[in-house]
Amino acid sequence: MSTDAIVLLKHDHQEIRKVFGEFEQAGANAHALKGRLVDRMIELLTVHTFIENEVMYPRVRELLPQLEADVLESYEEHHVADVLVLELAGMKPDHPRFDAKTTVLIENVRHHIEEEEGDWFPQVREALGRKALQEIGAEMLEARAKAPHRPSQPGALKKTIDAVFA
Ligand SMILES: [Fe+2]
Ligand SMILES: [Fe+2]
Repeated sequence: MSTDAIVLLKHDHQEIRKVFGEFEQAGANAHALKGRLVDRMIELLTVHTFIENEVMYPRVRELLPQLEADVLESYEEHHVADVLVLELAGMKPDHPRFDAKTTVLIENVRHHIEEEEGDWFPQVREALGRKALQEIGAEMLEARAKAPHRPSQPGALKKTIDAVFA
């Protein structure tokens, strides 16, 4: 299996997008199903955000100062998603704002993924090349093994908070 960092992250993005699509296909009154799908989103996003915040973003920042603005914008986008994830984690699926909040989360994360995949990840690939991306990917797999799965777990929001207030 490849440990290329961008391949690993895109694989996560695919899984996240799939759950987004399933949520959008679910009926207006499918509260139990939508509750399970949002739980799954929260888990996928918590793990994915952790490995990007812990490994990908700091490495790119160190190695490619020309992408500093993109990384900082990404931290801010993660921060917005974190707030929504945190609120959804404590909300019942039949709450009147549950669907609206989830829809806004989906819109934000889709936009963010598009910027990563369409805009600055290709620049990272171009600048770093295969070997460096494999090393970063291996480091990300290690981080994934200790990643939090819920926003309430230690470390889940730390890097974003550091980035915002540093
Ligand atoms: Fe991201
Ligand atoms: Fe991502």
